[in-house]
Amino acid sequence: MRRILIVALLIHCSSVMQAQQTRLQQTNFKPAQVWLANNGHPINAHGGGVLFHNNKYYWYGEHKIEGKSEAQFADGGIHCYSSTDLINWKDEGLVLSVDYKNPASDIAYGCILERPKVVFNEKNKQFVAYFKLYLAGAGYVTSNVGVAIADKPTGPFIFHHKFHGADSPNGSGDFSMFKDDDGSLYHLTIRKPDKAFVIGKLDSNYYYPEGAYTVCKGIESHTEAPAVIKREGIYHMLGSGSTGWKPNIARYYTAKSILGEWTNQGHPCVGYNTVNSLGVDKNFGSQSSFIVPIHGIKDSFIAMFDIWQPENPITGRYIWLPIDFVEDKMSITWRDSWNLNMFKKTIREK
Ligand code: GAL
Repeated sequence: MRRILIVALLIHCSSVMQAQQTRLQQTNFKPAQVWLANNGHPINAHGGGVLFHNNKYYWYGEHKIEGKSEAQFADGGIHCYSSTDLINWKDEGLVLSVDYKNPASDIAYGCILERPKVVFNEKNKQFVAYFKLYLAGAGYVTSNVGVAIADKPTGPFIFHHKFHGADSPNGSGDFSMFKDDDGSLYHLTIRKPDKAFVIGKLDSNYYYPEGAYTVCKGIESHTEAPAVIKREGIYHMLGSGSTGWKPNIARYYTAKSILGEWTNQGHPCVGYNTVNSLGVDKNFGSQSSFIVPIHGIKDSFIAMFDIWQPENPITGRYIWLPIDFVEDKMSITWRDSWNLNMFKKTIREK
């Protein structure tokens, strides 16, 4: 009798474990649907970016505090997840927290800490995190670039310093950090308060801008949410207009030199979001944050977008879509469900 009970218990436990694994092992990207991490909680990494290091991807994003609206200061720091397949993500926790104890800290609770991006500096072997930083109590007026440093991709990141960027006392807003083939790191950003789009190069430590910023000819003013990649010697930049948390149509530019001149390519999106019925005029209800180059599959990139929920930001979802290149121009088509096999197929067809 006892043996029968033990066997029944073992069978029960193994089927529960199997059910959990099936629930957590995901095979497809499902844009705009709830995306769970390995612990069963929705991924909390908004306005983020992805770093590939030693065969692993690290997704860094804004950690939104449960129960807070944007107006009530929802930013809790930088949350990190790791993955080998870009679909199943392990929660690595908060790798930089806002400071709840010291109100004089640059990252004191109540600050606005947005759009974190992490870059690896080969020279110093440091992981450098950048984020938009508005000091607590200062509102969306003077924007700084916050810089934090870690010696492991999973942190902890230690706040290091801040700079204004864009050679402007009012600082810079949404940005992209682009590391070129020669290791030069560029800060592409919107200048405050005139909203011109500018680019500056960082020093070899990746700590501060070095030299003057250049206005990017060809990129319209009020361009936000930039995400930059290089493909076959051409720079491609995805972005948006400036309508706060509300979505607007995507912007797309290309250039032969990162400093410009840039060519306006209209917008790259096709179709509509079947979850919220929003089309390309509202960019599927989302705003760009980053483009992920896929390692091991040539010329394959994923566009990352955020669906903002300013009333309850922790519930904001993500839209990750594959980028097709049609006559060397980006095209981003809505898909309800997809996976990386799609890129392999495109390559075979070529
Ligand atoms: C957006 C920006 C977001 C956030 C928001 C606030 O334009 O991309 O990161 O700052 O404005 O309204």
